[in-house]
Amino acid sequence: MPVIDIHNHFFPRTWPDLAARYGTPNWPWIKHTEPGKAEIMVGDRVFRQIYSACWDPEVRLSEMDRDGVEMQVLSATPVLFAYDRPAEHALDCARLFNDAALELCAQGKGRLKSLCQVPLQDIDASCQELSRCMRAGHLGVQIGNHVGEKNLDDPGIVTFLHHCADEGAAVLVHPWDMLGPQRMPKYMMPWTVGMPAETQLGIVAMILGGAFDKLPKHLRICFAHGGGSFTFLLGRLENAWQHHSVAHGVCELPPSGYVNRFYVDSAVFDERALQFLVATMGAERVLLGSDYPFPLGEHRVGTLIRSSRLTTTAKERLLGGNAVEFLGLEKSAATSEGTTASTSGGPIVTHGEQLTYSSYLKVPELLKLQHPQSSPQHHDELLFIIVHQTYELWFKELLHDLDAVVSNLRGAGANPESRDEVYEAARLLRRCTEITRVLVEQFTILETMLPTHFLAFRGKLEPASGFQSEQFRELEFLCGLKDEKMLRYHRPTPEAHALLERRLREPSLHDVFFDALRTMGKLQVDENATERERFDARARAVLSLYRDERSNRDWIDVCERLTEFDELVVSWRLRHIQLVERVIGVRMGTGGTAGSSYLKLTLDKKFFPELWEARTLLTE
Ligand code: HEM
Repeated sequence: MPVIDIHNHFFPRTWPDLAARYGTPNWPWIKHTEPGKAEIMVGDRVFRQIYSACWDPEVRLSEMDRDGVEMQVLSATPVLFAYDRPAEHALDCARLFNDAALELCAQGKGRLKSLCQVPLQDIDASCQELSRCMRAGHLGVQIGNHVGEKNLDDPGIVTFLHHCADEGAAVLVHPWDMLGPQRMPKYMMPWTVGMPAETQLGIVAMILGGAFDKLPKHLRICFAHGGGSFTFLLGRLENAWQHHSVAHGVCELPPSGYVNRFYVDSAVFDERALQFLVATMGAERVLLGSDYPFPLGEHRVGTLIRSSRLTTTAKERLLGGNAVEFLGLEKSAATSEGTTASTSGGPIVTHGEQLTYSSYLKVPELLKLQHPQSSPQHHDELLFIIVHQTYELWFKELLHDLDAVVSNLRGAGANPESRDEVYEAARLLRRCTEITRVLVEQFTILETMLPTHFLAFRGKLEPASGFQSEQFRELEFLCGLKDEKMLRYHRPTPEAHALLERRLREPSLHDVFFDALRTMGKLQVDENATERERFDARARAVLSLYRDERSNRDWIDVCERLTEFDELVVSWRLRHIQLVERVIGVRMGTGGTAGSSYLKLTLDKKFFPELWEARTLLTE
């Protein structure tokens, strides 16, 4: 997996005298002090000491080799944003530095890429400049976390972010123009205190201001410096949201429901902070970002991640896998022609190469993912691995479809007049039942393995157990069967633990289904009702749908699909128990349970018991 640093900066060796060009003072300029060293000046004030890595591609490349970094995605620095200047000056300045970035990248042997900047005080000009830059070869844009008093939920900025999503541009949000300057004149406090607060403010504004609800899910947006104070204070934000209506904002979900909508970089400089970041955001949401080559950057890029106790898989994701997704590199490999960015870690962007069956489906990678533990290798262990992997792939598809069902039902609840979302939910649920039918059947393949053959390698598997199937538990939580105790089996894998914690907090399919019935006026529950009374009210709401078939055909279809899904999951549990008994009798499981007698207790579990209760009520 390539190592890609998505947050680092450059300064051209020279640029025009901006103060003279625009006739206004205090523009940044560069003062070369000795060979290879310079100062960024703002007017007469020294803003920052820099060195030749800022402008010399050879120096950059050799330091990248030293640090084992294959690709850098560079951006100018916020001191150049000029959002508080006349828009035409900010646009001209943006163009100068955007073109300078491309010139530097052109000398980077395919290993340097860039993010542009835009005059964010003028949305139309920003959209145009972004489109120009994307055509010219930038991978996205770096923006500040506010424009004067406008936060990132400002309608104009949301329009711009929409445009970024349409253009497939990655967005890096960098704090700038820090709050409280009078109280932070010394000790680098604007960097150490102001920046984290600004970044947190940017994220919170986007969440509570409803920006994420308005923006498409395919927007790829990342916040610098680990998202500032956001993750550490998410609990505080969530608490305020849950208990004080004034803290609600206009968002649809609690704040924690949005952590899957953005990325953060890894520039936190402390292993515990990195672990916490990964636990909160998920290993798929944190990207290597170094702030290189500035004094506050990581001195040996990637060291924090490499030396951490994260799993190898998580490290690979943080070091480069997530960046490939964030930057849309795979997509550009599939769609664009031209130069190849081949790197020492293997090709990242296969520009010009024809897509094939194998390269699209990653067949070579897939076929290398089976690693039997028995030695000498037992013939049936390969089957054991492949059957489990196949289950996990289908679990992935189920989660994908059920997430879409949740959002369709949410849409249906929000707009009871439109039936499109209800039909779509029913259509996808039918796919889920068909997949689950295959999953019930698939156990028969494993039953071709003799119990003696399984016992020959079973000892190698302990303490791994199906209990640790993170996706199976995700499916249960997503559908509404939330059992916090099950989290303990995922302690060895912090990313899985964090993901499941998130699923626990998020509204389930069960919640969203009944919320929709509530907004349609089919379900009324008294605020002081007991849990039993609430259950009865939900069952009666379902009953009312069935009693008026002509008006509710589409909703009845959803109910039938949900019931069938529930039924098939119970069949899955039963067939799994039969398999277990066939292979290990009533012996204990590798996860430490009593085996089949424990699993039998799970047979009573239902995702939607109200749908079954409604049937009893119907026959009364
Ligand atoms: C030789 C085959 C298998 C045996 C002997 C077996 C055994 C067991 C046992 C004893 C448990 C209870 C937990 C424990 O103590 O480990 C369990 C749980 C589980 N197994 Fe299997 N299993 C087999 C195949 C499979 C397959 C093919 C899957 C497919 C994904 C699977 C998925 C699960 C899941 C998801 C759980 C947790 C169930 C729950 O919490 O309700 N197992 N298995």
